Amino acid sequence: MALSSPLQNLSALISAKGNATAVATPRPPRGRPWAVHAAASDTTASASVQMGEYEEGKLERPKWVGETPLSRLVQALISFKPFYSVLKLGARRALISTAEKNNIPWRQMAKEILESEVYRELDNIQNQSLVYPDYYLNPFHAYDEGNLTWLAAAEAEAATLSIAKRAIPDASSTQEANQILRGNWLRAIEQHHMQYSESSVINDILDIGCSVGISTRYLADKFPTAKVTGLDLSPYFLAVAQHKEKNAPPRKFPIRWIHANGEDTGLPSKSFNLVSIAFVVHECPARAIVNLVREAFRLLRPGGTLALVDSTTKSKVLQELSPVLFTLLKSTEPFLDEYYLTDMDETLREAGFGNITSILTDPRHVTITATVP
Ligand SMILES: C[S@@+](CC[C@H](N)C(=O)[O-])C[C@H]1O[C@@H](n2cnc3c(N)ncnc32)[C@H](O)[C@@H]1O
Repeated sequence: MALSSPLQNLSALISAKGNATAVATPRPPRGRPWAVHAAASDTTASASVQMGEYEEGKLERPKWVGETPLSRLVQALISFKPFYSVLKLGARRALISTAEKNNIPWRQMAKEILESEVYRELDNIQNQSLVYPDYYLNPFHAYDEGNLTWLAAAEAEAATLSIAKRAIPDASSTQEANQILRGNWLRAIEQHHMQYSESSVINDILDIGCSVGISTRYLADKFPTAKVTGLDLSPYFLAVAQHKEKNAPPRKFPIRWIHANGEDTGLPSKSFNLVSIAFVVHECPARAIVNLVREAFRLLRPGGTLALVDSTTKSKVLQELSPVLFTLLKSTEPFLDEYYLTDMDETLREAGFGNITSILTDPRHVTITATVP
């Protein structure tokens, strides 16, 4: 069948450069290795974020987004069930084999979680009375039950590491890619907070959509005197987060994990000075994005900082993605179009935020920071 050939080649396409074979990979600025952005072992250094060094594309957004003929064609293909099923399987296989080629032992990492005592954490973390928003119950990321399964939870860390290597293919290792991606994000947050909230120390942090706790742990390491809370809709992801944290060196302030909807957390108003929403909004429909931003505004104290990081339509790499890869991407991310059509600056402004600042903190992702007046 004609489909099998591109699918068999998916892994090769995704691997190494992570974008189209014909597309030029963004290179580090001449004479400046990627590592300038963050020393491999140091995400806390105070070097400044290299603004504007990651290249933006010429378009407002990629041609495969929104109501363009190309986008409609991709959407029609994805809606054709037999094609979608093949695509989903191919996508999953390609993700795993690409990760393993990049020395991320995907299957081994998942096996270790699935064979651990992680299941014990579920009962004390799960809020049985939580009502899930409709969008969260869709098939997602090639999992029929979306994020509400042990398999998705067990594979989340490997999947997250893969994002970093795909974003920064020139990094010498996945670890380095991850340090650059997270290091630049943390520095953007620190710089924003220092510039606009200098009198306010960061002592209460909320990480909305914390998944298995990777972003939460980065925040807790960066701000060790702060009390940090990770919040997510998936009790399975939170169970993995808690299980991992229990097996890690103890902290002065243990991370608190909450099973709740970030759109309506039930937490007290003005109780945080930093709210992070990392790699969440591309998974949400537009109405949920607005609600998440409004809830973050309610939860922050005056002078508090919102930090939102996610993929951006401005990214040159995304604008030049090959047809096979953007079809694949759209097939596993049902709300990507809604996110890409949302004006995030305007959404933040309407919620009441000021000092809205956007920085490409790696070739694919933008960190948007803003202050509650
Ligand atoms: C890609 S993961 C986030 C990764 C993590 N923040 C990091 O940086 O490593 C997206 C997460 O958002 C969560 N999520 C989606 N909608 C949510 C909502 N309304 N409230 C809370 N969490 C949500 C999902 O369950 C998922 O764990």
